[in-house]
Amino acid sequence: MANYIPIVTIDGPTCSGKGTISRLLARDLDWNLLDSGALYRILALRAKENSILPDDYESISYLTKGLNARFILDREGECVLLNNQDVTSKIRQEDCGILASKLAQFKEVREALHVIQRSFILPPGLVADGRDMGTIVFPEALIKIFLEANTEVRAVRRHKQLKEKGINVSLPDLSREISERDIADRNRSLSPLKPADGSYYLDSSDLTVSQTLEKVKEFVENII
Ligand code: C5P
Repeated sequence: MANYIPIVTIDGPTCSGKGTISRLLARDLDWNLLDSGALYRILALRAKENSILPDDYESISYLTKGLNARFILDREGECVLLNNQDVTSKIRQEDCGILASKLAQFKEVREALHVIQRSFILPPGLVADGRDMGTIVFPEALIKIFLEANTEVRAVRRHKQLKEKGINVSLPDLSREISERDIADRNRSLSPLKPADGSYYLDSSDLTVSQTLEKVKEFVENII
């Protein structure tokens, strides 16, 4: 099939490791990367900067017009460019994550981002990470993976990541925020976080990054 573009989706809760694994996989395969959570965070950032309230979903959907996001992979990790400006550290702030999760509950916002997400299907292939990549956005994906880790492990991972970036948040606060975001993401009526039918399930709580990547590559190499 000359025009066939393979897609691997990696869904899972906050800090399950899906972002890191998606980046490493995309880099190793030399495929495109879609960090869909970053798109929700970018919208949150734009809403915050324009003083738009979270429930004004019409204005927020409007903010997706002309939104040009790109994910660049480099030695340091992922660089998120919004209209060619580096917004990586701004969108990683916890307040952007919390607001992103609120905006993600609106149909208009999800529909506006759906189109943008589909535009990432480009040769030679796509690795897409998020909450509904395998269930809603890329139902045709060749390989669907659901990556989990327990809440304590995820809070510790996130705490370490933030500390390395000079951002100080207390571990109990972080753990509570992660749990609250999980509850919202798993229980919302639209595109709730859940494993897609036929997905590979992987719990990374006791695995290192390289062990997790190895397992994910086994799934991929079995099929590609
Ligand atoms: O993955 P990340 O933590 O960056 O995502 C931020 C928020 O965006 C999530 O808590 C979730 O509510 C929302 N999101 C979503 N669907 C996606 C990706 C992210 O609803 N595909």
